[in-house]
Amino acid sequence: MYTTVVCWAVMLVGLLSQQPASRSTASALLDFEFFKIKVQPIFLAKRPGHARCISCHASGTPLRLQPLSPGSATWNDEQSRKNFEAVRRVAFPGSLKSPLLIHPLAEPAGGDFFHSGGKHWDSQNDPEWQTLKAFVLGS
Ligand code: HEC
Repeated sequence: MYTTVVCWAVMLVGLLSQQPASRSTASALLDFEFFKIKVQPIFLAKRPGHARCISCHASGTPLRLQPLSPGSATWNDEQSRKNFEAVRRVAFPGSLKSPLLIHPLAEPAGGDFFHSGGKHWDSQNDPEWQTLKAFVLGS
């Protein structure tokens, strides 16, 4: 009996102490290619009743995306890299509390309470939100 308890205790300590390690592995998982191909189009997409993310976030806001070059509908590689660096600040690897996830999400759906740019998604089931989540979780 005693040994069983000790065994459980040891396993539990083992599991707990593994957590920081798995988190730091997660931090390697923000994937640039995924960002470029899947996440950036979300910043450019027009949603009914909302301005596009890029309309506000290319200037004047703390999350600073690169302005699109004249005549260009998307970002080139160098601009995408800069966007990736900017978004890193609001995408905490593995954390569903990342501002990127909760700021544009409606509060009843688990978002925070105010984003000057509006609440672009009413549900975590929204495919665009799911894409952001996959980016942050690295899966
Ligand atoms: C109408 C303008 C506007 C639009 C459109 C907009 N935003 Fe914002 N956003 C802001 C402003 C202004 C702030 C800073 C004040 C605040 O947090 O509300 C902000 C803040 C943020 C932050 C927090 C930045 C930080 O440094 O903590 C995130 C993340 C964000 N926006 C993501 C988005 C995403 C993703 C979209 C598109 C789905 C979007 N925003 C659309 C204006 C906008």
